[in-house]
Amino acid sequence: MDIATNPEMADAAPTPHQPPVIRREDYTPFAWLVPETQLAFALGLDTTRITATLSIAPNPAADISSTIRLNGDGLKAVSVTVDGTPVSDWTIDGGDLLVPLSAAPHTLEIVTEVNPSANTQLMGLYGSGGMLCTQCEAEGFRRITFFPDRPDVLSIYTVTMTGAKDAFPVLLSNGNKVDAGDNGDGTHWAQWHDPWPKPSYLFALVAGDLVANTDSFTTMSGRVVELAIYVRAQNDGGDLRRTDHAMRSLIKSMEWDEQTFGREYDLDVFNIVAVSDFNMGAMENKGLNVFNTKYVLADADTATDSDFDGVEGVIAHEYFHNWSGNRVTCRDWFQLSLKEGFTVLRDQMFSQDMQGEAVKRIEDVRILRGVQFPEDSGPLAHPIRPDSFREISNFYTATIYNKGAEVIRMMQTLARFECGAEAFRSGTDLYFDRHDGEAATCEDFIAAMEDGAGLDLTQFRLWYAQAGTPQISIAAEHSGDAVTLKISQTVPDTPGQKDKLPMPVPLKIALFDRASGTHNGEQLLVCDAAQQSFTFAGFADKPVLSVNRGFSAPVTITRDIADEDLVFLAAKDDDSFARYEAMQDLVVRHLTAASSGRLNDADRETARRAIGNAFAAIVADTQLDDSMRGELMMLPGITYLAEQQPVSDPSVIHSEREALKAWLGRQYEAQLTALHERTAQMPFGLEQAARGARKAKTQALVFCAAGNPQRGADMAAAQYHAADNMTDRQGALMVLTGLNSAARTNALIDFHRRYADNALVIDKWFALQASSLHPRAIDHVKALADHQDFTLRNPNRVRSLYMAFAANPHAFHAADGEGYQIIADLIIALDPINPQTAARFVTPLGRWKRIEPARSALMREQLAKIAAVQTLSRDTFEQVSRSLER
Ligand code: PHE
Ligand code: ZN
Repeated sequence: MDIATNPEMADAAPTPHQPPVIRREDYTPFAWLVPETQLAFALGLDTTRITATLSIAPNPAADISSTIRLNGDGLKAVSVTVDGTPVSDWTIDGGDLLVPLSAAPHTLEIVTEVNPSANTQLMGLYGSGGMLCTQCEAEGFRRITFFPDRPDVLSIYTVTMTGAKDAFPVLLSNGNKVDAGDNGDGTHWAQWHDPWPKPSYLFALVAGDLVANTDSFTTMSGRVVELAIYVRAQNDGGDLRRTDHAMRSLIKSMEWDEQTFGREYDLDVFNIVAVSDFNMGAMENKGLNVFNTKYVLADADTATDSDFDGVEGVIAHEYFHNWSGNRVTCRDWFQLSLKEGFTVLRDQMFSQDMQGEAVKRIEDVRILRGVQFPEDSGPLAHPIRPDSFREISNFYTATIYNKGAEVIRMMQTLARFECGAEAFRSGTDLYFDRHDGEAATCEDFIAAMEDGAGLDLTQFRLWYAQAGTPQISIAAEHSGDAVTLKISQTVPDTPGQKDKLPMPVPLKIALFDRASGTHNGEQLLVCDAAQQSFTFAGFADKPVLSVNRGFSAPVTITRDIADEDLVFLAAKDDDSFARYEAMQDLVVRHLTAASSGRLNDADRETARRAIGNAFAAIVADTQLDDSMRGELMMLPGITYLAEQQPVSDPSVIHSEREALKAWLGRQYEAQLTALHERTAQMPFGLEQAARGARKAKTQALVFCAAGNPQRGADMAAAQYHAADNMTDRQGALMVLTGLNSAARTNALIDFHRRYADNALVIDKWFALQASSLHPRAIDHVKALADHQDFTLRNPNRVRSLYMAFAANPHAFHAADGEGYQIIADLIIALDPINPQTAARFVTPLGRWKRIEPARSALMREQLAKIAAVQTLSRDTFEQVSRSLER
C-alpha cells in the first residue's frame, strides 16, 4: 500500500538517512601507530590497482585494541595480508575495513582497485584531461586505500608508480624521486620517498603527459631546491609561458618566509601541477602542490591584475603551508583554522609586502565583510574552532579561513602594542619549534603565543569558542577639555550558542583635531567588558574619532558621528583603511536609510550631497595613488548592505545603490570622464602605477555608464577594442554586458571567438553574463546552461555560471522566485556528481530568514524541495538541514 492512502503509515515513513554528528569533545588518539607506509600504484585511467603496505604498532598513548579500523569510502578490498599471510577474517563496516590483530607490531598489506575516470567527485584518485591526479584533504585518501585517514596519524611514505610511458611520461609524488626505470614493455616506473612524516591528507600523486617550467632556489642555509611548475603538454600552445608569474611568486614566497618567519624549505624539489578539474583553489601536498589552473596560469592577455594577485597569493599560501600545516599539522579537523587561519594571515602579510599594505588590507576586509560576516549571522555560523560537524568539507569556510586569520592578526596587534615589535615572531618561533613534527591544536598555538610573545590570552580564547560578529557601539562625550568614549559590546546569538561573554577587542584609534586635520598619535584600546569608558584629556574642542584603524578587530561598529565628520575623515585620515571606512560608512548610512523607506526627497538630496563631496574629493585628490582611488570609489556591496538590516529586500537595496551610482555618474560626469581619459593614456605595464590606472579607469567607466548608459556604452566599446590587456578588456566587457546595446552583443561574440580555446577566459565570459546588471540576466543564465561550452563536470565552469548568478542580486532575487529555483535545481542535479561543490550553493538560499517575507517563503520552499531528495550526499544534507532550522 501507498503511504499516501494510509495515514497510519505516514509516521513510519523512513526518515532520510542522517549522517552522524562528529564532536570535538569525543577526540581520542588512534590505537595504532603507522610509522611507515609503502604504496605501489599500477596506473590506468579506468583501473588503478593500489598495493598498500603499512607497518603498524600499538600506540602507547592509546587504549589497547585487538582490531584495527582502517577508513574506506566506496572501496573493495581485493586482498588483505597480515605479516605475509593472506587473511579472510576481515569485515567491512560503514565502508571501513576492520582487521582483527594481536596488540603487537605487524605488517599489513592491502590491495584495492579504483576507477579514476568514473570519479566525478574529484576526491581521491581521478582523471582530468587524460592525466591522473589525487586530492586527499580532508578525507579523500580513504577513496584510494584503507587507512587511518585522520590527521594525527603521521607516517613516512614511499610511493612506487608503474604506468604506460606514452600516457604517463611524467610520474610525480611527494618528497624526492629516488629511483626510476623502464620495464621494456611500454611501461615505466618511478619511486618517490618523502622523509617527513605526514598525515594521509597530504599524500599526492600525479601522472600524465606534462611539461614544466623549471628554476631553482637556494635556501638560507645554502641548499639548492629544484623548482618545477607542470602543465598539460597538450596545452603547450600557451600554458607553459603563462606559468612565469607563478614561478616568480613561488621564489618570492620562499625568500619572504625565510626573512619574515625564519622558515626554510626542507626537500630537494618543490613541484606544482596545474589541473583544470579541481574543487578548490589549490592544495599543499608535501613537496607536490596541486593547483587549480586558475591560480597558476596568468599573462597579460588572458588574466586581469586581480587574477595575477590571486596567483601570487595562492602560490604563497600553499607554499607557506609547508610549515603551517605540514611540518606542524592538525590533531583533528576541528583544528582546521590552526593551519588555515594562520596560513591566510601569512599570505595576507606577504601580499601586503608585495603589493602595498593599504589596498590589500581593504580588499581583505571587503571579503571578510562580504562573505564571512553574513556567514556569521546566518544559519551556518560556527566558531573558528567548531564543536561538531557531519561533513568536514562543509567547514572550509570564510570563518575558518578569514576570520581565523583576523583572530591571529589581533594577537599580532596585541603583541606589538603590549610586548614589543619582536614579540609576535617570538611566539610563532616557539610554536614551530615546540610542535615541529606534531599534530597540534589551536590551544597549542595560543599557549605558544602566551609563552613566546608574553601575552595573557585567557579571555582571548573566547574568540576560538564563540561564533558571531561582535557588535561594538561607541558614543563620544566632550566636557571641559576631556573626551570620554563609552564603548559597549555584545556578541549576538548564533545557532546552538546563546548568552555569550564579552571578548577582548583591540581597537586602534586616533583623535583628530578638526581645525588642523592632525592627531597626536595612534593608540590601542582593548575593550574587554560589556560596558567601558575611556577618557582622554587635552581636547579643548571635541575631536573627531577615527576608530578600528587598519581594521584592527573583526567587529561591526556603530558610532555616533556626524556625516560631516565622516566627510572629514574620508578626506583627511592618515590611515588609509579608516579613510576608506569613512567613505563606506557614509554610503552605508544613506543606502540603509533609503532602502528602509526612511528618506524623504530633501533628506535624500542632503545625503547625496555629502557623499558626492567626499566622492569628488577622492576623484580629484592628486596626492592619492590611482589604486587607492579606485578602491575608495567603490560602493559597498549588496551583501554587506543587506547585513545592516535585520530583514531586507535585496531588490530595493540594489535599486537604491544603482540610483546612487547613476546620480554620482551624472553629477560628476566631467571629472569622471577626465579621470577615464587620463588613465587611458597610461601605457600597459605591471608596475603599481599602471595597475592603479587600470583600476581607476574601469571605476570611472562604471560610474559614467550608470549616469549615462548611451555614452557609457560608447566609452566601454572603445575601451574594449583599444584594450591590450585582460584587465581593461574585462572591465569594459563587464560594463557593456550590463547595458542594452548592440555593442554588447558584438563584444560578447568577439570575446568568445578570441578566447575559444582558453577555458579560464571562457569562465570569465560565463561569469560576466551571469553577474550582469542586464535586466534579462536570468534568461541569459538559462540559455548559457544549454551552451555547448557548459558542463556540470568542471567546478570552475559551474561556479563561473552559477556562483556569479547567485551573487547577482537583481537576478537571483527575482520576485517570482525563479532565481531560487534555478539554484535549487542546480544543487539537485550536481549533488550526485560532485557533492562538495553542490553543497556550496546552499549558502545563498540559506539567507532566507534575513530576506523580506514573500521572497523568504520562496527560498524556504526551494530548500525544502532539496531536503526532500532521499539520496542527498552528506555534504548537501548537512547544509540544507542546518539552513532550514528555525
Ligand atoms: N588546504 C587547501 C588550502 O587551503 C584547501 C583545500 C581543501 C583544497 C580541501 C582541496 C580540498 O590551501
Ligand atoms: Zn590553506
